[in-house]
Amino acid sequence: MTSEKDRVWIFDTTLRDGEQSPGATMSHAEKLEIAGLLDEMGVDIIEAGFPIASEGDFAAVSEISKNAVNSTICGLARANFKDIDRCFEAVRHAKSPRIHTFIGTSPLHRAIPNLTMDEMADKIHDTVTHARNLCENVQWSPMDATRTEWDYLCRVVEIAIKAGAGTINIPDTVGYTAPAESADLIRRLIETVPGADEVIFATHCHNDLGMATANSLAAVAGGARQIECTINGLGERAGNTALEEVVMAMKTRHDIMPWHTGIDTSKIMHISRRVATVSGFAVQFNKAIVGKNAFAHESGIHQDGMLKNRENFEIMRPEDIGLAGTSLPLGKHSGRAALRDKLETLGFEIGDNQLKDVFVRFKDLADRKKEVFDDDLIALMGVDDGEDARLKLVSLRVACGTGGPAEATLVMAINGEEKTSVESGDGPVDASFRAIRALYPNTAHLELYQVHAVTEGTDAQATVSVRLEEDGNIATGQSADTDTVVASALAYIHALNRLIQRREKIGAGADAREVSYKDLT
Ligand code: KIV
Ligand code: ZN
Repeated sequence: MTSEKDRVWIFDTTLRDGEQSPGATMSHAEKLEIAGLLDEMGVDIIEAGFPIASEGDFAAVSEISKNAVNSTICGLARANFKDIDRCFEAVRHAKSPRIHTFIGTSPLHRAIPNLTMDEMADKIHDTVTHARNLCENVQWSPMDATRTEWDYLCRVVEIAIKAGAGTINIPDTVGYTAPAESADLIRRLIETVPGADEVIFATHCHNDLGMATANSLAAVAGGARQIECTINGLGERAGNTALEEVVMAMKTRHDIMPWHTGIDTSKIMHISRRVATVSGFAVQFNKAIVGKNAFAHESGIHQDGMLKNRENFEIMRPEDIGLAGTSLPLGKHSGRAALRDKLETLGFEIGDNQLKDVFVRFKDLADRKKEVFDDDLIALMGVDDGEDARLKLVSLRVACGTGGPAEATLVMAINGEEKTSVESGDGPVDASFRAIRALYPNTAHLELYQVHAVTEGTDAQATVSVRLEEDGNIATGQSADTDTVVASALAYIHALNRLIQRREKIGAGADAREVSYKDLT
């Protein structure tokens, strides 16, 4: 039996707090795709972005609002009328819009705008009232709540409730709290603040001490009924609470955590992979729930135990998170219908045109690789630079071996015009990257270069991640190919295309980082 009082609302902020993580910037199309998947999986509230931050954020929040089927769409706004107006302008298209406004209330955060306690209290009253005049559904957050003086926290929460906020979010902005304290804070606020029983309390935890999941669940034990989280725990520094962890914890240990959500857990694996791909933040192999090894039972003892009874070592079933059992690989004789069927079981819904394009790439892969496994297809569906990408790899040949430097001959289209360069370097990847830089000179610093084999065998595809930094802007690129050098060049070009996009946004006077919520609270 489920009861309404035990219903926990899932508020996903992958597209706002998650995307704010340096290097995790997603394109417009990627944000729409992720929002669609969140909506489909039953996320109650999607925080789609920070509309004042840039034209791009505004456009994404507006379009996500128009597309949303079931989810409430929320936008973030600092405590000023301009932010709040812009936020409402973007979310008002949603069937169910929400404005989320916040201000830092701890002593350290109060010092940033240099407001006295009274001045800040007035500001909270005015801005929440303003938001509430625009939108029925308003959420308010005292940023760094867990380091805010108790009396002041009670005072400002009461003001926000009286001004009309229906959800009060209590952020642990710097990941400082611990489970017992987290439960206690929410419990005491509900007991103490007048009007607290009329609103929903939310918990928003960061994972700096590795306690975000535990702190969020403890907050629910204390009376919170909304958890703010991201897919794969994406987020700045050590990230936010991972959606998949809190949801699966409540489902698996319902005996001691008798709360329920509206999440269709069978969609978890697919969205986890898509977020990892589009954000460029790979999931660590031993990550709870969605890591590659989370359901792998490698050791002999475990395998023996699993064969006798899977419950010996498995507390969740792989199917519960949408992890399909091992299935037959495709090969070069597989047709379009088989490919579509397989992609659908993996969670991809693709139209006829996209299928045509994927089929060509699949055939190309199947020609080079005898068996195409599920993971190969997932990598193949990875990232697309898009039609309007400035840089496109046309061809690459590398001569390398012992006894001398490698030499790369690279043809790249720059704004549609093909150019060739020949460069040598310390190994094939270095030579290829030099050839790219010869055609597209740039000062971007290579911060990360990572290669993973998708499956086993010498014909396995490699996925390559590249992270570049230029003037404080960070962009990640990813690609997959059976040829590691080609995958590397494609990933490098992908990251450069993203840096170019960011530079163009800045040129248009719309850099999200310029008005980051941290700078101006
Ligand atoms: O961590 C935080 O405090 C935030 C707020 C904007 C809610 O993300
Ligand atoms: Zn946060």
